Amino acid sequence: MLETVIKRDRDLGTPARVSERLVTLTIDGQEISVPEGTSVMRAAAEAGINIPKLCATDSLEAFGSCRLCLVQIDGRRGYPASCTTPAEDGMVVYTETPKLHELRRGVMELYISDHPLDCLTCPANGDCELQDMAGVVGLRNVRYGYDGANHLNDAKDESNPYFSYDPSKCIVCNRCVRACEETQGTFALTISGKGFESRVAAGQSESFLDSECVSCGACVQACPTSTLQEKTVIMMGQAEHSVVTTCAYCGVGCGFKAEMKGQEVVRMVPWKDGQANRGHSCVKGRFAWGYTTHKERVLKPMIRKHITDPWQEVSWDEAINYAASEFRRLQAKYGRDSIGGITSSRCTNEETWLVQKLVRAAFGTNNVDTCARVCHSPTGYGLKQTLGESAGTQTFDSVMHTDVVIVMGANPSSGHPVFASRLKRRLRQGARLIVIDPRRIELVNSPHIKADYHLQVRPGTNTALLSAMAHVIATENLINEAFVAERCEAKAFNEWREFVSRPENSPEAMEEVTGVPAEAVRGAARLYATGGNGSIYYGLGVTEHSQGSTTVMAIANLAMATGNIGREGVGVNPLRGQNNVQGSCDMGSFPHELPGYRHISDNTVRAQFEADWGVTLQPEPGLRIPNMFEAALAGSFKGLYCQGEDIVQSDPNTQHVAAALAAMECIVVQDLFLNETAKYAHVFLPGSSFLEKDGTFTNAERRISRVRKVTEPRNGKADWEVTVALSNALGYPMNYTHPREIMEEIARLTPTFQGVTYEKIDRMGSVQWPCNDAAPEGTPIMHIEEFVRGKGRFMITKYVPTDERSTRKFPLLLTTGRILSQYNVGAQTRRTPNVAWHSEDLLEIHPQDAEDRGVVDGDWVGVHSRAGQTVLRATVTDRVQPGVVYTTFHFPESGANVVTTDSSDWATNCPEYKVTAVQVTRVSQPSEWQREWSRFSDIQEKLLRERARENESVLSGK
Ligand code: SF4
Ligand code: SF4
Ligand code: SF4
Ligand code: FES
Repeated sequence: MLETVIKRDRDLGTPARVSERLVTLTIDGQEISVPEGTSVMRAAAEAGINIPKLCATDSLEAFGSCRLCLVQIDGRRGYPASCTTPAEDGMVVYTETPKLHELRRGVMELYISDHPLDCLTCPANGDCELQDMAGVVGLRNVRYGYDGANHLNDAKDESNPYFSYDPSKCIVCNRCVRACEETQGTFALTISGKGFESRVAAGQSESFLDSECVSCGACVQACPTSTLQEKTVIMMGQAEHSVVTTCAYCGVGCGFKAEMKGQEVVRMVPWKDGQANRGHSCVKGRFAWGYTTHKERVLKPMIRKHITDPWQEVSWDEAINYAASEFRRLQAKYGRDSIGGITSSRCTNEETWLVQKLVRAAFGTNNVDTCARVCHSPTGYGLKQTLGESAGTQTFDSVMHTDVVIVMGANPSSGHPVFASRLKRRLRQGARLIVIDPRRIELVNSPHIKADYHLQVRPGTNTALLSAMAHVIATENLINEAFVAERCEAKAFNEWREFVSRPENSPEAMEEVTGVPAEAVRGAARLYATGGNGSIYYGLGVTEHSQGSTTVMAIANLAMATGNIGREGVGVNPLRGQNNVQGSCDMGSFPHELPGYRHISDNTVRAQFEADWGVTLQPEPGLRIPNMFEAALAGSFKGLYCQGEDIVQSDPNTQHVAAALAAMECIVVQDLFLNETAKYAHVFLPGSSFLEKDGTFTNAERRISRVRKVTEPRNGKADWEVTVALSNALGYPMNYTHPREIMEEIARLTPTFQGVTYEKIDRMGSVQWPCNDAAPEGTPIMHIEEFVRGKGRFMITKYVPTDERSTRKFPLLLTTGRILSQYNVGAQTRRTPNVAWHSEDLLEIHPQDAEDRGVVDGDWVGVHSRAGQTVLRATVTDRVQPGVVYTTFHFPESGANVVTTDSSDWATNCPEYKVTAVQVTRVSQPSEWQREWSRFSDIQEKLLRERARENESVLSGK
C-alpha cells in the first residue's frame, strides 16, 4: 500500500471544515451533505465531482482569483467561483454546462497567451496543473495569440540551493504566497506589480536566499506550475515511484514520500496524510538528504590495533569477528563489566532494542546508555515521578485547541520547525503566548505574532521562576481545586501548596535571582491559570541544567494545579531533539531500566526477559555515559560499542571525553562518517542511512511511524543486521530476518507496545503508545481519566543555585542551542547545501558586553571556562541579554563543548550545557585546543585517506 506509482494526491480544493451542523445541497443531480462552511468546490469533490481549478488547493484558504472554478447555481445571478462560495442547504449547483465550458476556455486562453509554450522541455511536464487544466477545459486555440507579456526574458532566481524560481512560468495564482503565510508562517513572499507585470517577490524584491525565506518548500509544494521547482527534478526529471517514510532529523517525525527513480531519490515530498506534519516540512527533511550519498561516507568496514595506525579495510566478517574477539579478550582480562554500549537516538527502535539487548544479554552487563542522557533524561525522571509516564501527554494537533501556550527553554522555529508553524497558526488565530527563555527567540516577535510575556530568565534559575509562578497561582486562588481534589494525592499537594506559598517563593523575592520583573511573572502566571486551555511546550533549556529534573517536575506541578492535563489543548509537552529520542528511551537504553521504563532490579520483569532471551540478566544498574568515562580514566572500563552517536562532539567537556576514549583498548564505532568519536576507534562499522533500512521511529508525541527502505544499503548491511552479526559472533544467537520480527519481540515484552504491529502502523499511518488491549488503536492523549500512576503527585521543587555561577574570572554565562539549517553535531547537515545558511558556529554577545571588551561584529573571540578554551567569531546582538552569551555546537572545529563543564542534573546526570561561566576576550588566533584538534584531525583523515584496501594487510606484527 505504501509503495506506489507516482500520482498526485487527490486535492479537494479547499480545506475541510469542522461543524456539527450539516448542510445538504444538490450538485449535478447528486445530493450531498457536508459540514457547514464547506465550499461548493469541496462538497463537489467529496461527491466525486472535480471542478476545474488553479488557484485553489485544499491545504490553503480559497483566494478566488483564477475564475476557472465557476459554477451555475439555481436562483443566483452570474457564475460564482465554487472555491469561495459556501455550500448552503437546498442549493442546486451545476458544474458542467456549455456556458461554463465557454467561460473556462476563455480563462485558459488568457493564461496560455501569457505562458511559454515549452511543455515538452519543461521540468513539470506530466506534473503541471496548468497543463492538466488546459486538457480538462478542452483548450484548442488561443484567440489572443501567444505574445502576451510573457516574461520570457525575466531572470530566473537560482539563489536557493534547492529550488529555482522561473518568473516566465508564473500564473500569479498566489498559492505560494498563501503557503508561506498560512502553512509556514514566515510571510516571505508577496505579489509585486500589477496586471501582466505582476510576479512573485521574495522579501523586499531580494533573492530567495537573501530574503526571510527559510526554505521550507511549502511554496514549491503549492505551486501548480514549474515556476517554483526543485532543482533535483529539473536535473533528473519526474520520479516514477514513491515510498512513504519518516524524516530522520528531529523529534517532530514528519512523514515524507520519497519520490524515486530506480534507486535514486528525486525529491522528498511531505506526506499529506502524515499525522505529525499534515503535509508540511522544513528545510532539513525536505531538502537536506544529500548526505546519504556524500562522498565522505565510509562504506567498507575497517579495523586497526591502535588509533595511531592506518585503517585497514576488511570484510564484514573479519570486522565483526575482530570486534567480538576484542570484546571477549577485554572481558577475560578486565572483567565482565569492563565493556558497554551506547545506543542511538537517530537509529530505529528496532536497532536500539538490539543494541541494549546485545549489551545485557551478550556482554552480560547493564553498561548501556543513550544520548538521551545528555538531553531529555530529566524529562523521563521528572514526568515519571509526577504523572507516572516518561513521555509527553498530547498530539501536535492538540495545539490547535490551546488558548495559552508556555514555550520554555525551546526554540521551535529552529529545533522543531513544523510544529512551530502549527503553533504560529494557532497564535495567529488568537491564542496567547508566554515565552520563558534567556534569549529572544524568533517566536517572541515574528510576523503577526507577539508574545504576551517574554520572561527573560537568567540561565540556571528556571526552578526559581516556576516556583514564583506557582506562588501566584497558589496565593491568588487560581488553583483548580476540583481537579486537584479528584485527581491528585492530597498530602503531596498540601505540602506543595504550603511550600510555594512561602514568601521566599514570591515573584518579588525571586526577582533578584531570576532577573525577571515580578509583575511580568504575576501576569504570566495569571494568564496561564485563567486563560482557558493552557499548554506547556519545553525543550533542552529546561532539562540541561543542574536542576533539570526539578524543573520538569515544576512544570508538571503547574499543569496539575491548574487542571491543564488530560484533554485536547493542554498538557506537558517535551519537544524531543533527535528523531528517535523518545524511542531510544522507550527501548530500554538506560542502564537502570529495561524497555518500558521498568527497573532492572524488578525480579518479575527481569524474569520475563530472561525467559524470552534465554540468559541471566544482572540485577544491578550499569554505568551511565559519564560513569563510563570516569571508569575508563580509572582503568576499569576498556571497550565500547557506540552506534550512531558522536560523543566526542556532543558530550560536555570534550577534553575529558577524548582522554577517556584514548584510555580504552577497543572502541567500535558504527556510523555513516568518520566522526570525531571514530577518530578514537579501533573498529569502524559503516552505518546505513534512514533511506536504506526498515524500522520505526517514535516522535515527541509517542507516535510510532514506519521507516521504509527506499534504496539498498550502500554499505551492504542495515544497522540492525550489523548488531545481529556482532551478537552471533559473540556467541549469543540472534536470528531475525526482518525488523518486523524485532517489533514482535518488543510488543511481546513491553506492555505499552503490546498492540503495535507493522500491519497496524501501515493501516493507521502511525500509532501512539500506549497501544495495548486497553487502547488497541493507541493513545493520542494521556492521563484522561486518571494519571498513569493513579493520582498525580506534586513534588517540592526547591531552587538550589547551580555551582556554575558567574565570577570575576568568568563573568558571563554561556548557553547553547541549535539553529534551523543545521542538526545536532552537524554530521549530516554539514554535508549538504544547508551550509549556505550557516557555515560556522558564532558567539552571540550583547552590544554592552561586546563594547566592554572592544569586540565588534565578526571579531574572533576566545571563550574561556574552567573546562577549556575555544575561539569563535562574534556576532553582536541584543537577542541575548547582558551577561549572557550563546552559541551553537554544529561544527567540531568550534569546540563549543570544550568549554562546557561536566556539572550535571542531580537526578540523571544530564549535563548542564545551558549554563557555563565564561570570559570572552578578543583574540587573533585559534585556541590551543583548536590547534591540537586540527593536528589530530589531519592525522586521522590522512590515516583514513591512506587506508589499506582489502587484502593489503597492515596489521601484521603489531
Ligand atoms: S520556501 Fe517556505 S519560507 Fe521560503 S518562500 Fe517558500 S514557503 Fe516561504
Ligand atoms: S510562483 Fe507558482 S504558486 Fe506562486 S503565484 Fe506563481 S504560479 Fe502561483
Ligand atoms: S520538522 Fe523535523 S521531522 Fe519535520 S522535516 Fe523538519 S527536521 Fe524533519
Ligand atoms: S480555483 Fe476558484 S477561483 Fe481559482
